[in-house]
Amino acid sequence: MSNIVSVVSQNEVAVITINNPPVNALSAEVRSGLLDALTQAQADKSIFAIVIQCEGRTFIAGADIKEFGQTPKLPHLPDVVLAIANSSVPIIAALHGSVLGGGFEIALACQYRVGLKGTTLGLPEVNLGLIPGAGGTQLLPRVLGLSKAMNMIITGKSIKLPDTADNALVHAVTDSDVLACALEFSHTFVKSIGGQKLNNKIVEQDDAEDIKQHALKNLVSKRKGQTAPLKALEAIMYTTQYSLEEGMKKSRKLFLECRDSPQSAAMRYAFFAEKKAQKPKLPSISAPLKNIEKVTVIGAGTMGAGIAMCLLASGISVYLLEINAENLERGMSYIKKTLASSVRKGRISEQQVADQLAHLTATTEYSTIADSHLVIEAAFESMVVKQDIFAKLEATVSTECILASNTSYLDIDEIASVVTHKSRVIGLHFFSPAHIMKLLEIVKTKHTDTNVISSCMAFAKTIKKQAALVGMCYGFVGNRMYASYGREANFLLLEGCSPEQIDKALVDFGMAMGPLAVNDMSGIDIGYKARKENPNLSVDPAYFLAANLLVDSGRLGQKTGSGFYAYDEKLNRTSDPIVMDIFKNAAQKLNIVPQSYTSEEISERLVLALINEGANILQESIAENAEVIDTIWLNGYGFPRYYGGPMFYAQQLGWKYVKEKLLALHQQTGKDWWKPSTYIDSLL
Ligand code: CAA
Repeated sequence: MSNIVSVVSQNEVAVITINNPPVNALSAEVRSGLLDALTQAQADKSIFAIVIQCEGRTFIAGADIKEFGQTPKLPHLPDVVLAIANSSVPIIAALHGSVLGGGFEIALACQYRVGLKGTTLGLPEVNLGLIPGAGGTQLLPRVLGLSKAMNMIITGKSIKLPDTADNALVHAVTDSDVLACALEFSHTFVKSIGGQKLNNKIVEQDDAEDIKQHALKNLVSKRKGQTAPLKALEAIMYTTQYSLEEGMKKSRKLFLECRDSPQSAAMRYAFFAEKKAQKPKLPSISAPLKNIEKVTVIGAGTMGAGIAMCLLASGISVYLLEINAENLERGMSYIKKTLASSVRKGRISEQQVADQLAHLTATTEYSTIADSHLVIEAAFESMVVKQDIFAKLEATVSTECILASNTSYLDIDEIASVVTHKSRVIGLHFFSPAHIMKLLEIVKTKHTDTNVISSCMAFAKTIKKQAALVGMCYGFVGNRMYASYGREANFLLLEGCSPEQIDKALVDFGMAMGPLAVNDMSGIDIGYKARKENPNLSVDPAYFLAANLLVDSGRLGQKTGSGFYAYDEKLNRTSDPIVMDIFKNAAQKLNIVPQSYTSEEISERLVLALINEGANILQESIAENAEVIDTIWLNGYGFPRYYGGPMFYAQQLGWKYVKEKLLALHQQTGKDWWKPSTYIDSLL
C-alpha cells in the first residue's frame, strides 16, 4: 500500500484517505494506492460500506497533468474508475474543495456522493485540450441527462454545491465535517438500503439530436479552432448508443487522440505557464506582505471605472477620485449602468450590487483618500498629469501606501521622480475592460521594493487577476510586442492588403479579433499620441503611416464612426474603399510596390514580428521567462490558447525555422527590426 493512500476501518465502514498535496492529483501512486485500498477494504468482511475522502484543501482535483507528456504508468485511470463502479461494497465519495476532471469521474463512479457546502464539481478537461478520459462523458449524462452534462463538459464550467443538491449528483450536503456526514449517511441510509447499481443503460432521449445540434451551435462554436469540444460532443453522444463500459472504451480512444495532440500540449503548457508567471523569482523577504483593503482609483474614465468595478467585485473598499464633479458623475453612472446590465444578464444579484456600491466612495478631494493602502492612478496618459497626481499623493497618503500607475507606455521611473519614497512606486497595468480582462501586468521600476512587488502579486490573486511581472521599457511586454504586430499590419496596408484581408488572416489564425478591428475599437488616436510622445521611435517614414494618416483625416475608429472600417450607429463594421485610396497614395509617394499575400503569409508575418520582439524582451530580461510573455498574450491579447502563446508557438514551429524566416524578411525588407534576436541564437 502506498503512503499516500491509507485505509482504516471505522465502525464497520472502511475509510480510504488520499493524501497527495497540494491538490490530491491522481498520480500513478494514487491510482495504484486506490486500487490496493479497495481490494483491502473489500476483503474485510466486517465492513458494509467504503468512504473515499481526501486530506488537505480539496478532494481529487483531477489527473496529474504533469504525467500527460510522459510514458503512461499503470494502472490507467479508467481501470480504477471501473473498479469503483463495479465494487460489491457500496462506496460513498466524501467531497470537498475542487472535485475536478478525474476526481469527479471517481466520484461519479461511486454509488453515493456527499459533499461540503461550497464544493465545486466539474469536468474542465476542454481547458487543457482534452476530453474527460476516464468515463466522465459516459457517467455524467447518465446522472444529469444529456443537456446539462453537455453544457458542463463542453464549457468546462464547474458547478457549486449546494446548487446541485436537488439532483442526483449528490445525496447529502453538509456545512461542517464531510467525513462525519459520509459516515452518518452510511449508517442511516446505506446500511439499510445497501448499494445502488450504477446506471449502465443507454441514454434514451427523444430530443438527443436537437440537444446535439444546440450544443454544436451554442457551445462548440464558442471554442473556435479547438478540437477537444467536438470530440467531447462525439463522446457524449455515445451514451445514446452504447452501454457504459463500451462507451468508456470508445471515449478513451478520443481522449488519447486529444492527449497526444499539439493543441493539448499547448494548453497544458499554458496551465503551468500561468502558474509560473504568478511565482517570479524574487529575493526572500522577512516583513509581512502589505495589507491592501482600501484602494483609491484616480480617474473615472472607462479604465478607472473598470478597475473600480474589478476591485468592488472582490470586496475591496474603493475611493474613486476625479478632478471635478462632472467627470466623477460620468464615471459613477457608467459603473451603475454596467452593474445594472450585469444584473439583467443574471451575473450578479441586486443585493450584490448594493453591497458593492456601499463600498464605493466617490470624491474630488485628496483629503478623503488619506487612509488608502494602495492608489492606482488611471488618469490621462500624460507625464505632466501623472507627475502632478503623484506629487499630490505624496502630500496626502501615508509613506506605507503603495503608489501605482496604470500607464500603458510612460516611463514609471520618470513618474516616480516626483516622489521621495520611490521604492513604493510600481506599475499596475490593467487591460480594458478592466473588470473583465484577466491580465494584470505588474511593472517593477529601478527602485520598486520587493515587498511592494510581492504584495501586488498577492493582491492580483485577491482581485482574481492573472499577474505577470515585467520590467520597465516602452510599452512593457504586451504593448511593446503589440506595436511590432501592429507595425506589420500597417506595412501590409501600404503594400496593398485591405483591412479585411489582414483581420481575416489573423482571425483564421485563431486570434480573437483582427488587429485593425481592435485598433478601431480602442481608438487609433491612442497609439498615435503615444508615438508622438516618444521621440525614440522608428524614423522609418512608413512606420505606422497608415494609422497616422487615418488620425490626421479624423478617422479615429469606432468613436468617430470611421477608422480602418466604416461603422453605423449600431457599430456594425463595413469596408470603406476610401481608406485603400489613402494608403495607395501614400505608398506611391514612398515607392512601395504593391504585393499580393496569402492569408498564411499575412498571419505568419505578424506572428513572427511578435516572436522576434518577445525574444528581444527575453534577451533584455524585461520578462523573466517565455512563460511570462505567453501568459500576457493569452490573457491580455486573445492569442489562441491552443498555440500556448507566441513563444511556445515559436518553439513548436522550431527556432531554426523561425530564424530562417526572420532572416528572409530582413533580406526582403532591409528593416533592422527583422534581424533575428540574439536570444534565438542562444536556443539553437
Ligand atoms: N495536476 C498536477 N498539478 C496540479 C493540478 C493537476 N491536476 N492541479 C493543480 N496542480 C498544481 C498547480 O500546478 C500548483 O502547483 P505549484 O504550487 O507548484 O504552482 C498547485 O497544484 C496548486 O494549484 P493552484 O495554484 O492552481 O491552486 P488553487 O487553489 O488556486 O486552485 C485548483 C486549485 C482549482 C485545483 C486548480 O489548480 C485547478 O483548476 N487545477 C486543474 C484542475 C483540472 O484541470 N483537472 C482536470 C485534469 S485533466 C483530467 O483529469 C483528465 C482526465 O479525465 C483523466
